Formats: sequence, C-alpha cells, structure tokens
Amino acid sequence: MTASDISDKHRFLAQGNVYLPHIMIIEKIIEETPGVKTFHFNFKDEQIRDEFTFESGQFGEYSVFGVGEAPFCISSSPTRGDHLEFTLQRVGKVTNALHRLGVGAEIGFRGPYGNSFPIDLLQGKNLIFVGGGIGLAPLRSLIWNVLDNRDKYGDVQIIYGARSPADLCFRYDLDAWGDDKTVDVITTVDRQESRVQSPVSRVEAGNSRLQSQESRVGAGDSRLQTADSRLLREGFVPQVLEQVAPSAENAMAIVCGPPIMIRFTFPVLGKLGFTPEQMITTLEKRMKCGIGKCGRCNIGDIYVCRDGPVFTYAQIKRFISSEH
Ligand SMILES: Cc1cc2nc3c(=O)[nH]c(=O)nc-3n(C[C@H](O)[C@H](O)[C@H](O)COP(=O)(O)OP(=O)(O)OC[C@H]3O[C@@H](n4cnc5c(N)ncnc54)[C@H](O)[C@@H]3O)c2cc1C
Ligand code: FES
Repeated sequence: MTASDISDKHRFLAQGNVYLPHIMIIEKIIEETPGVKTFHFNFKDEQIRDEFTFESGQFGEYSVFGVGEAPFCISSSPTRGDHLEFTLQRVGKVTNALHRLGVGAEIGFRGPYGNSFPIDLLQGKNLIFVGGGIGLAPLRSLIWNVLDNRDKYGDVQIIYGARSPADLCFRYDLDAWGDDKTVDVITTVDRQESRVQSPVSRVEAGNSRLQSQESRVGAGDSRLQTADSRLLREGFVPQVLEQVAPSAENAMAIVCGPPIMIRFTFPVLGKLGFTPEQMITTLEKRMKCGIGKCGRCNIGDIYVCRDGPVFTYAQIKRFISSEH
C-alpha cells in the first residue's frame, strides 16, 4: 500500500486500526548539528490538521514507508500550532532513513502518545530546566509553552549543555531565550573543542550568536565568552548546576539528556534540597507499539509508553541506577 492510498482511506480506517499512521508532509528541515535535524511537518489531511491536539512531553511513532517506525517526542509547543516539529539524532535504520528525506516527503505519524509534563503542578513554581544535547527537544516544547503563558510561572532558569560548541542544538531558541529578560539561560560545553581541532567554522555555519570565541575569558576562568558577550561555560551539566545552585524553594526541576547526565544530575538536585517529587524527567526506552500493548518498553512494572514517558524521580528512582 502506498502513502497516498493510506491517506485517502485514513479517516475511515483510523477508527478501527490503532496502528494506521496519519500521513504527514515535511515542510522544513533544520540541521541542528551534523547528526541532528529538526523537521517541521504537518498533516496532509486538513481536517485532522485542524482537530489535532497534544501536550508538551507527548511523543509520536514516526514511520518511513518501507523502512519502519520509531518514537520521537513532539519538540514544538502546543501553544504554537501552525505546524508540528520533531528533532532526531541519526543512530540507526529509521533515523538514517528520516535524515535522507527532503522537504515535501511524506512520512507516517501515530500519536500523540504517553502522558505529558504536569502543567498544573508547574504553574506558580520557579522552574529549572536542565538539558543535555538532544535532550533539549522535549524540554523546548515545555519551555515555549511556559514562555507563551509567562505570567503563570515564577522564575525560569535554563541550564543546557552539549559536548562541544558544535553539538549545541536549537541555537536559535537559546538566542531567543537569552534575549528574554525574564529567563536566565546558562549554556555549557564539556570541552571547548576549538582548542583541539577548530570546530568554530561548524559553529559559525549555525549562524548563531552562541559562537564561542577561541580565547578564554581569563586565566583559570572556566567560562568562555560568546560572540555577544554572553558566557558559554565549560564543564559538565551536573557540575554547572551545582555551581549555579538554584534554590529548591517553591521550585521544580525538569531534566532531560543522556542517561549519564540524568544519573549525575539527580544527586546534585538532591544536594541542593530538591525532593524526588520536585524532579521530573522524560524517559526513552526502546518501544514498538507505543500504546501499552506489546510490553516492549517496561521498566519493572512501568510501561514507559503508557505510564510515561514523563515521570518524577520519586516514581522511577528504584529503577534509574540499573536501567537509565
Ligand atoms: C518516548 C521517546 C521519545 C524519544 N524522543 C526522541 C527524540 O525526540 N529525538 C531522538 O533523536 N530520539 C528520540 N528517542 C529515541 C529514538 O526513538 C531512537 O533513537 C530511535 O528509535 C532509533 O531508531 P533507529 O531505527 O534509527 O535505530 P535502530 O537501528 O533501531 O538502533 C540503532 C542504535 O540505537 C539504539 N537505540 C534504538 N532505540 C533506542 C532508544 N529508544 N533508546 C536508546 N537507544 C536506542 C539501538 O540499541 C542501536 O544501538 C525517543 C525514544 C522514546 C521512547
Ligand atoms: S511500546 Fe508496546 S507496551 Fe510500550
């Protein structure tokens, strides 16, 4: 069956077959880093386009016809509704096939699935977003959601890190949040790679003000100057979080990044006085059905696709050291 056959029959079959994807058109592609792309996409069927809703934190199963499907979070905000976005790192079969697609290509989409960030619980609180690498993708959906309803939240702090300047995703968002006087953005890299192999040209290709300069701010200073005098720190995300030391009072920390970052971030938050109930993350387990039927995504008695992917640390701490 071709993509257009599915599209024509979609509205009738979707009622009875939960595995039947919606047909989506890719409208724009942004190369975030050499291995990470963001796709802007939309429903081919205008009625579904108008009726579709989702919450920050939810995910979809995306398919390349003839290749397979894989889960990715919806990285755009429900407050910005004219299109949807997802951001993916090229790691294997489906992600390589998606990376090869161009604007105008058709893909399949099932969703939205899973729970979402607990907006009601977050309102009125100071929010600390802690992200690493492509882990900013689910966070940015919530960050834009919060900023589009700014008066409902307290202070907003974003601590984001990547391996090197060239690995920073969403530079356009980091710039926009940096320009917002109500947001405190701290960006860090594990190492300033340019001192080793000059990735500066790759960073410049991103046309961002978060270009790091090659010179240090001062001897012994672990922070690096960005082109517009904002500071790009050097150090791992958990270390920078400890230095910044946000207050746990009336606060919630929302964390997403590589498993190793998450594992080291929770103890730092604990040291700063955050309880496990004040720490939220979103998990990425291997999945198949995405809807609680196949049992592929379980951790203990939890199905990540159905009970998550968003959890408090209190809910998952008994699993996290062995599984995540
Ligand atoms: C709820 C959810 C949301 C996700 N959101 C995103 C997102 O926004 N952006 C993004 O880039 N990725 C995201 N992922 C991970 C993404 O689903 C996998 O990278 C993808 O399924 C890999 O498919 P593939 O066919 O390219 O890789 P495969 O060919 O299947 O595998 C390639 C390699 O990747 C590893 N791998 C595959 N899936 C996972 C996984 N889920 N976790 C860890 N390692 C895996 C395999 O073990 C293998 O080593 C998410 C996963 C979940 C469950
Ligand atoms: S992916 Fe099938 S039960 Fe979760």
